[in-house]
Formats: sequence, structure tokens, C-alpha cells
Amino acid sequence: MNAIETHDLTRYYGDLCAVNHLSLSVDHEVFALLGPNGSGKTTTVLMLTTMLRPTEGTATVCGHDTVRDGELVRRSLSYVPQDMAVDIKLTGRENALLFARLYGVTAPKDRVDELLAVMQLSDRADELVKVYSGGMRRRLELVQALVHEPEVLFLDEPTLGLDVAARATIWEHITALKKGGMTIFVTTHYMDEADRFCDRVGIISRGMLLALGSPPDLKARLGNDVITAHIDGTFRDPGVDGIMLFAFASDEASFLAENGREALPVLADAFTRAGIKVRALALREPTLDDVFLHTVGTPEEPAGFDQTKFRTMLRRRR
Ligand SMILES: Nc1ncnc2c1ncn2[C@@H]1O[C@H](COP(=O)(O)OP(=O)(O)OP(=O)(O)O)[C@@H](O)[C@H]1O
Ligand SMILES: [Mg+2]
Repeated sequence: MNAIETHDLTRYYGDLCAVNHLSLSVDHEVFALLGPNGSGKTTTVLMLTTMLRPTEGTATVCGHDTVRDGELVRRSLSYVPQDMAVDIKLTGRENALLFARLYGVTAPKDRVDELLAVMQLSDRADELVKVYSGGMRRRLELVQALVHEPEVLFLDEPTLGLDVAARATIWEHITALKKGGMTIFVTTHYMDEADRFCDRVGIISRGMLLALGSPPDLKARLGNDVITAHIDGTFRDPGVDGIMLFAFASDEASFLAENGREALPVLADAFTRAGIKVRALALREPTLDDVFLHTVGTPEEPAGFDQTKFRTMLRRRR
């Protein structure tokens, strides 16, 4: 039995299909669901945490069906929403105690003390949450989420709006929880964080799961070197065989090539012949950002990125 399993999980809002036949197993790992805004990440999490009924399909958490055994599912998980409601008129400790009592935790004070210490909040625990920084609030939300020792933890954009150091701290805690045996399901827009801290990622677009695997696997599946070109003025794909344009944003075009070293001078030459001014041309290894863009497309062309269509569109812009 996997901690989280979904079979054809689907959710419509009226005519809009927000999650489309999602089948997924997640177990004893940090799993990240990635996708553009509005791709169905939060809707998925809401169904898994029993907050929303699926239109079709099923999901289980710790073997319990999210619709039939909602109570058991809720007992085995914790969920920190995208915008969490901590009471800013209470202290950190009071907020945490409130949750501990709601969950009927035995020895709530000791449990809260312990978790406040783990989350490095002990010395600020008796101050009003109103004066907490964003990072402190996030850590307090983790305290609240952990009071009843859940087996599965759902975090919707856990590091959104935090500074670099605060993000690193949150990920340290997430990693420690996983090592302690917890299954953690996160959504994030930060590819670098998913790459560094998550065991596997799933990429969804318009509710459909388009890619699934570990970050190294997904990058390897791209199988190529990436060449980025910074363009001066109007851009179009010079159209060299074997050098595939896969993303273009503002003044940066990204290409995939089997052998980057060999492709670099060929591409430079093609740009010159096409009269396209290039400020810089660089070769690098694929990142999870590249995987993401390759999978879901660029902002200009979000749905199921279609190379032919994209090229036509760029030509039209000339
Ligand atoms: N309560 C609702 N009623 C109608 N449509 C909704 C509702 N909630 C979400 N949607 C729509 O469902 C789609 C998926 O939304 P969802 O919030 O799951 O996306 P998301 O991937 O979490 O986005 P973001 O990255 O911006 O948080 C969007 O088109 C959204 O507008
Ligand atoms: Mg969301």
C-alpha cells in the first residue's frame, strides 16, 4: 500500500476540467506536483485531503478512500494550504496549542514545546503571530501541521514569498521529516527547489499529468545539451536541423542539441546568416526549468507545447 494513490482522479468545475484522470502513487518520499498557474495543483491537493469531492476516479491516503473514509484520511494527514489561516491575534504557542487540543493530542503542552523547539520558535513562542516574519509563520504552520503526528503531509507552495535563507530552512525541515518516515506531497513553482529537495516530481498542465520521475531522470530524458541565446532585437528560429528551439522568453531563446559543443558554432553561424543579433551564446546542462518549459511550453504557448505551432507563431511575429 502506498501512502497516496490516485486512479483517474478527475475534477470538473462546471465545464472546466481542472484535474483530468490523474493516476499517481506516492510513498515515503518528498513528491512535488509542478505546473503553471491554474493547472490543477491545489484542486488535486484539495481532493486528496478530502476538502473537495472528485467528479470521477478515486484516491486513497494510507489505504483509506478519501470519499468513503474521510475521517480516517483526515486523521492520517496534515495539510498546510497555500494561504494558511494562523490567528495573528494569538501567540505562536497559543495557535499551536489550539491545534493540539482540536486534534485531541495527549500532553498537548509537551508536544507543542517539542515542536516549537524543532522549528526554532521557542524563544519567540509567546509573541503575537502578528509580529512574526513570513518564515516564522511558515514554521509555525508546520508546528500546527505536525502536532498529531501525521503520516502524510501536504504542503501547498510551502516556500512562496520567503527569502532564500527561510526557504532553505523550510526544506531542511521537510527533508528531516521525510527521513523520519513521513510522506510529503508539495506543490511549488520553484524548479530549483524541486530539483534539489524532491525525490520525484510530476508536471501537470491543464489538469493532465505530462511528466513523472526523479529530477535527474527527467533531465536525462531531455537527453541533450541546452544552448541559450540572448537575442538583440527580433528573434526567430534560424531552423538548424538537429538543434531544436524549445523555449523563448523575453530575449532568451533555448535550444536542445545532441552535442552542444558541435552545435554551438553551427548555431552561431546560422544566426549570422539569418541576420539575427546575438549578445551571448552559452552551453549548459539541462535544468528542471528546461524540463518544465519543454513539457508545458512557454507563457505564449501554454498548452501541450507544439514545436510546429510555436515556430509558425514566431515567424508570424517578424
Ligand atoms: N472553486 C472553483 N470554482 C471554479 N473554478 C475553480 C475553482 N477553483 C479552481 N478553479 C479553476 O480550476 C483550475 C485549476 O485551479 P487550481 O487552483 O487547482 O490551480 P493551481 O495549479 O493550484 O494554480 P496556482 O499555481 O495558481 O496555485 C483553474 O482554472 C481555476 O481557475
Ligand atoms: Mg494553487
